[in-house]
Amino acid sequence: MRTFIAIELPQEIKSALSNIQAELKQAHADVKWVKPENIHLTLKFLGEIDETLVEKICAILEGIARQNTLFNLSLSDLGAFPKLNYPRVIWIGVTNDQPVVKIAEEIEKEAVEIGLPSESRPFSSHITVGRVRSGLNQGALIEKLIFLKKNFPASNLEFKVHSLTLFKSTLTPTGPIYEVLSTYPLQSGDGSF
Ligand code: 2AM
Repeated sequence: MRTFIAIELPQEIKSALSNIQAELKQAHADVKWVKPENIHLTLKFLGEIDETLVEKICAILEGIARQNTLFNLSLSDLGAFPKLNYPRVIWIGVTNDQPVVKIAEEIEKEAVEIGLPSESRPFSSHITVGRVRSGLNQGALIEKLIFLKKNFPASNLEFKVHSLTLFKSTLTPTGPIYEVLSTYPLQSGDGSF
């Protein structure tokens, strides 16, 4: 089963990101845009894993969620990998992402302990909104990216992260289908459960 662990985004955040995608689409570049309903913040991509490992992953996520409290995230930046003027992956960035980094590092450590391959690069919080397929209209896309980075919509892009989610991903010719396998609520932080 192909799986990954991620933070789900509230509907209003997905809508706001879809508006940002709409601005970027005006460049008419060759980009595969992530469907708004599929946009998420990946904590760890697990790839194809054996069904027997799924149970272990669930136990890891349950433990990590129990030891971390819910937190706010604010979307505040836009960029591209490997760099803004050579965009391949277009992403939205978050401020105050220390809780995300901490959780991602805990997941990474425990995933490696159960035999999953380690990441070659350190974790970097980002929300992928598009993947560039060719150099078509790249100049116009770069201009749009630079403009939106400077004029990033500041309001209404804050949300509370309530849980960690294990997703199943099925690849189809029309794009991936993501299904929630299980969610693990973070602690409320005020002692209540
Ligand atoms: P990305 O946002 O950094 O592109 C589900 O496929 C998620 O897993 C994607 O959002 C993608 O994160 C992440 N991912 C990381 N490595 C991947 C890989 N080798 N293949 C597919 N997805 C990967």
